[in-house]
Amino acid sequence: MRRGLVILLVIAEAVTAWSEYEAPLVEATPDEKTGIYYFEWIVEETMTMATSGVRGEGFFEVVDYVVNETDNPWRVRISEFETHCADAVEWNNDKHNFSSLLQLDGRHQVVFTINGKTPADPIVVPLGAEIQLTVRNHLMATDMTMHVHGLNMRGNWFNDGIPFLQQCPIQAKSSHVYRIFADTIGTHWVHGHLGVDRGQGLLGAFIVTEGGKRDIREYAMVLQDWFANDWKHIWLLKKWGLMKWHRGLENPEHGSQCHQPTYTHDNGDLFADMALQSLLVNTKGWHNQSDVLHHPEKLPLTQFRIKQDSE
Ligand SMILES: *[C@@H]1O[C@H](CO)[C@@H](O)[C@H](O)[C@H]1NC(C)=O
Ligand SMILES: *[C@@H]1O[C@H](CO)[C@@H](O)[C@H](O)[C@H]1NC(C)=O
Ligand SMILES: *[C@@H]1O[C@H](CO)[C@@H](O)[C@H](O)[C@H]1NC(C)=O
Repeated sequence: MRRGLVILLVIAEAVTAWSEYEAPLVEATPDEKTGIYYFEWIVEETMTMATSGVRGEGFFEVVDYVVNETDNPWRVRISEFETHCADAVEWNNDKHNFSSLLQLDGRHQVVFTINGKTPADPIVVPLGAEIQLTVRNHLMATDMTMHVHGLNMRGNWFNDGIPFLQQCPIQAKSSHVYRIFADTIGTHWVHGHLGVDRGQGLLGAFIVTEGGKRDIREYAMVLQDWFANDWKHIWLLKKWGLMKWHRGLENPEHGSQCHQPTYTHDNGDLFADMALQSLLVNTKGWHNQSDVLHHPEKLPLTQFRIKQDSE
């Protein structure tokens, strides 16, 4: 009896500390009166590996994950000015709420999020659905648009989100409603379409089902490569032909870190001229390849809950 209680407590702790399993897909429900599927996206800057902590709304506490620590790998840094950086480490405790932790590759980075997440929660609607997606651009000073792949959009080009061609960008602190018809079944994606905003986190799955109840549990997997530098930096290095130093020009040891592709290509755009840094499955991956190779079981990676076959 006592042992049962202890196990229960351990499970409860793990769940509050970090969202362990991915959420299965849930088909959206339409508005009862209009039959329209309404979505609202708030786009803003968010810090990865940070948690809204003890200092109230609008503040973050920076979180680290210590791979070699077995008991409690999560730790929170103390942000008060008075505490010296070298002493500013506090082990995870009840004061901190990790439930909305955005991990990505485990480094601290400012990214664009959709309702606090990247990738966004998947949009799942049945074929034929009429969607009204209100996008509220709360970014500090960045305009944006949204574009959905895989749909026909016939007669509806002005909702397709190509900036300057199909619409004026949604300016910072403004909003825009996209009216979209789910005209093609499939697993598509939706992404920001101004500059390289999709590389900063503006993306998500957009799934059009056949409709009707499905008696299986389904998940979306969004796969991405992810970089330590921000995408504007990477894009400009590419434009200026400096990609081999994209790991860091300022690093005196860049000679040894220089990336040289070892394969040829047919005069097309060699996209892989960026050395791969991290792979994300949904919102989690890991930046340290030595850790990925040597002890993947210790890393906080995306997990799916699956069901054992009944015999
Ligand atoms: C983990 O590694 C760091 C530095 O690499 C070290 O300071 C720390 O003591 C290690 N922790 C454990 C539990 O081994
Ligand atoms: C933790 O944060 C989540 C998401 O922001 C919120 O829904 C939840 O109520 C919070 N939990 C506590 C104990 O504050
Ligand atoms: C990766 O992790 C290993 C051990 O956990 C450490 O020795 C190494 O310095 C790390 N590499 C980088 C680039 O952080």
